[in-house]
Amino acid sequence: MTREKREAPDDKVTVPRLRSRKLAGEKVVALTAYDYPSGLIADRAGVDVVLVGDSLANTALGLENTLPVTLEEMLAALRAVRRGVRRALLVADMPFGSYHADEGAAVEAAIAFVKAGAEAVKLEGGSRRAGLVERLVASEIPVMGHIGLTPQSVLRMGGYRVQGKSPEAAAGLLEDAVALESAGAFSLVIEGVPSHVAADITSRLEIPTIGIGAGPHCDGQILVFADLLGMLPGKKPRFAKKYLDFHALALDAIAAYRRDVLAGTFPSPAETYDVAVLSPFPR
Ligand code: KIV
Repeated sequence: MTREKREAPDDKVTVPRLRSRKLAGEKVVALTAYDYPSGLIADRAGVDVVLVGDSLANTALGLENTLPVTLEEMLAALRAVRRGVRRALLVADMPFGSYHADEGAAVEAAIAFVKAGAEAVKLEGGSRRAGLVERLVASEIPVMGHIGLTPQSVLRMGGYRVQGKSPEAAAGLLEDAVALESAGAFSLVIEGVPSHVAADITSRLEIPTIGIGAGPHCDGQILVFADLLGMLPGKKPRFAKKYLDFHALALDAIAAYRRDVLAGTFPSPAETYDVAVLSPFPR
């Protein structure tokens, strides 16, 4: 059996190309994805970075927070997304527990992501992760950092709170950002910090910053797929702009399907195989 060879497009986003976007002053568009359809849609829409985020936990698995999601669940999601993504840079989020206990295990987990198709990994935390970032980069694995409101720190933070509000906290974030850049991170997610703090960090780094709830001055932006498309009911954070009310549209569509089935109008002749159509002997 032959398999169609899927060439990467000429404008394939790679780690070096993403870095040079900052020099060229071009914004980076990033989005999360959790399965084949979301990866395919994000890639076809021209998103530059697709992140298989550990927000898989809340948005696809119905969990309270990101802490319970496992390496195996992330790998399964990554494999599915990989099949849909060709042009975008595909980044995998290292889940809670996969890089906290021991660095050797963290490198092994990151290698598992690369073998499953990731082109980079992302991990949360600042200066205290610099050593691990160096080790991953030395193992040929590009790393995206993530500072500010890091959801895996929800227990320590006591909730999801904007970070870097005091001058001391803002200075701490800048220190974290510089430490990650020096350790070899190729880009940095900044989440849930005041706009001027993110702007300051962005102007001091050579690597691109990608903001979420961090104002307009980052080098790029990232949103969660389910937030952007309005897939789930309930209150969303202020920064999570909803471009579509998919949830309401899906409820309407399914209600229409239900009405048709109950009324006997689905399937109609258009959705029905006629014996004459199936017969090899035309009548
Ligand atoms: O898991 C995720 O969705 C993320 C983004 C919010 C950056 O880490």
